[in-house]
Amino acid sequence: MNKIKTFCGCLCLAILLSSAFAKECATMSGKVLLPTVKKEGGMPLMEALSKRQSIREYDYSKAISEEMLSELLWATCGVNRPDGKRTAGSTLNKQAVSVYVVVEKGIYLYLPQENALELVCEGDFRAQTGLQPFVKAAALNLVFVGDVQKLGIDDAAHNMLMLGVDAGLMSQNTYLYCASKGLGTVVRGSIDGAAFAKLIKLPSHKKVLLAQTISWPK
Ligand SMILES: Cc1cc2nc3c(=O)[nH]c(=O)nc-3n(C[C@H](O)[C@H](O)[C@H](O)COP(=O)(O)O)c2cc1C
Repeated sequence: MNKIKTFCGCLCLAILLSSAFAKECATMSGKVLLPTVKKEGGMPLMEALSKRQSIREYDYSKAISEEMLSELLWATCGVNRPDGKRTAGSTLNKQAVSVYVVVEKGIYLYLPQENALELVCEGDFRAQTGLQPFVKAAALNLVFVGDVQKLGIDDAAHNMLMLGVDAGLMSQNTYLYCASKGLGTVVRGSIDGAAFAKLIKLPSHKKVLLAQTISWPK
C-alpha cells in the first residue's frame, strides 16, 4: 500500500513539474512594422554566389539589427513589384509558403505585403525550431510553412513537392543575402515539424517544410 502511495505521489509530482515547465505558445496579437528596405547596392551577385555556403558555428553574442532583419526577410520573399509578386517565384503564383520568424523575443509571421511582422506568441521558442544544438542560441531561425489547401494541386504528392520547391527558392534567397552581408546561415530539414505545428497551433492543411538558422558566424 505504501509503495502504491509513493508511486502515485511521484507520478503527481512529475505531472505537476512537467506542466510547470512545458512552455506554451499563448496566442497573442500585434504587428511590428519593419524598417523600409534599401533596395540598391550590396555585393555583386557573382561575389555573393562565390561566398554562398552553410555555416553552423556562430558568435551568439552578436545581434541582428531590425534593418538587417527587414532586408533579410525582403530578400527571402518580399514584394518586389507593384502587382504584389515577390523576390522568390511561387507555384501558380499562389504564394502558398509563409515564413515564421523565431527570435529570442517570440514567434512572428512575416507579412510580405506590409513588410511587417505579426506576433504569434511571446517567449523564447528557438529550441523548438530544430534538432541541432545551435538553433537554441542563434539570433534567428526561420520556419517555412506550406499551405496545402492554398496551393490546391489535386495530386497530393505533387502539391507537397511544389511547396518544397517554393520554400527552396526562398531559402536560396536567404543564403545569398547572408553571403552578401557576411552572416552565417544553414537551411535545415531537421525540425520536428509536427511539434512546431502543434506549438503554433497550425491547422492540418499547413505543413512545416524547412527551417533555416541565421546568425553572425564565429
Ligand atoms: C533540403 C536541405 C535540407 C538540409 N538540412 C540540413 C539540416 O537539417 N542540418 C544541416 O546542418 N544542414 C542541412 N542542410 C545543408 C546541407 O548539409 C548543405 O547545403 C550541404 O552540406 C552543402 O554545403 P553548402 O551549403 O555549404 O554548400 C540541408 C540542405 C538542404 C538543401
